[in-house]
Amino acid sequence: VANEKESMYLVSEFAQKYFHHTLLETEEGKAIGLTYFKERGFTSETIKKFGLGYSTDSWDAFTKEALGKGYKLEFLDKTGLTIVKEEEGKTFDRFKGRVMFPIHSMSGRVLGFGGRILTNDKKAAKYVNSPESDIYHKSKVLYGIFHAKQAIAKQDNCYLVEGYTDVIQFNQAGIENVVASSGTALTPDQIRLVSRLTRNITVLFDGDAAGLRASIRGIDLILEAGMNVKVCAFPDGEDPDSFAKKTPYNELVSFLEENAKDFIQFKASLLVKEANNDPIKKAELIRDMVNSIGKIPDRIKREVYIQECSRIMDISEEVLFNTLAQIDKKEL
Ligand code: CTP
Ligand code: MN
Ligand code: MN
Ligand code: MN
Ligand code: MN
Repeated sequence: VANEKESMYLVSEFAQKYFHHTLLETEEGKAIGLTYFKERGFTSETIKKFGLGYSTDSWDAFTKEALGKGYKLEFLDKTGLTIVKEEEGKTFDRFKGRVMFPIHSMSGRVLGFGGRILTNDKKAAKYVNSPESDIYHKSKVLYGIFHAKQAIAKQDNCYLVEGYTDVIQFNQAGIENVVASSGTALTPDQIRLVSRLTRNITVLFDGDAAGLRASIRGIDLILEAGMNVKVCAFPDGEDPDSFAKKTPYNELVSFLEENAKDFIQFKASLLVKEANNDPIKKAELIRDMVNSIGKIPDRIKREVYIQECSRIMDISEEVLFNTLAQIDKKEL
C-alpha cells in the first residue's frame, strides 16, 4: 500500500510538471491558459510559485503522454487524472481544456488538482477537482498550506479564504499567511493543520450570502478547537482575490486590520445590518453568541467573552452565564 501511494504521488507530480509545461511552452497553452491567467493579473513569478498549468483540450493527450512515459493506468485511474470507461474500453483526461491548480501537502507533495474552465459558462462546473483517493482527502487539505506555513508561524496568524485564486492573489500582493478551504465546509482536520502553526485564524470569506453562512459555521469549529477567531467581511460581490487585485498593498493591509473583528463584534455587526435592532432578533442573536462562547474550552476565555458580549449587547452578565449553563447542560 505504501508503494501504491508513492506511485500515486509520482504520477501526480508528473502531471503537475506536464500541465505546467503545457501552459508555458505550447502554443495552445500560451494562447489559452497563459492568456487566461495573465488576464486575471497573475505574473509569471506567481504562476511558477504555485506551479499552475493547463490541460490540453483533447480527450486523452495527457493520459497518452503519461502511459508513454511508463506511468501505469492503475495509478492514473486511482488519482482520478484519467477517467476509465471500462464498458467502452476508453480512457479520458479528467481535466480536459482547463487551467490547473495543483494542491500540495504541508510538505509540498502534489496530492491533487483543481481545474477551472476558461469561460463563465453557467452550465458547466466552474471547477473540477481530483476525486477522493488514498493520497487526496479534501477534508484534510488546505490549499496553499505549503507556501503559507512559514508566514503563518511568523505572523502568528492564518488568513482563511474560500478559493484557489484568493490564496494566489494574496500571495502576489505580498500576504503569504493564507490558505483556502476550497469551497468545502471547514473541517476539524483542516483546523488542526493550522493549529500546528498558530492559534489565530482570521476568516476572509466571499462577500456574498454563501460566504457569510460559511464564516458563521467556521467560527464555532475554530472556537471548539480552542483557537482564536476573527472575521473580516468583504464588500458585497467581492472576494479576497477581486479585492486584493484592485487594492494597493498598504490599503489592503489597513483594510484587513480595520475590518477584522472579533467573532462577538462580527456577530453584533450582523444585528445592526440585518435585524435593525428588532428585540426578538436581538434575543436570538444573544443566544447564538452565547452558544458560540459555549464552544470555547478555556474557562477564562469564556468569561472574558461573556463580559464582552454583555457590554456590546447591553445585557447583564448574570443572564448570559445562566444561558451558558443551560446550553452546557443540554450538551451533556
Ligand atoms: N469550488 C469548487 N467547485 C465549484 C465551485 C467552487 O470546487 N464548482 C471551490 C473552489 O476551490 C473555489 C472555491 O470553491 O476556488 C470558491 O468558490 P468561488 O468563490 O465560486 O470561486 P472563486 O475561487 O472565486 O473562483 P473564480 O474567481 O475563478 O470564479
Ligand atoms: Mn489515507
Ligand atoms: Mn463565492
Ligand atoms: Mn473569485
Ligand atoms: Mn470567490
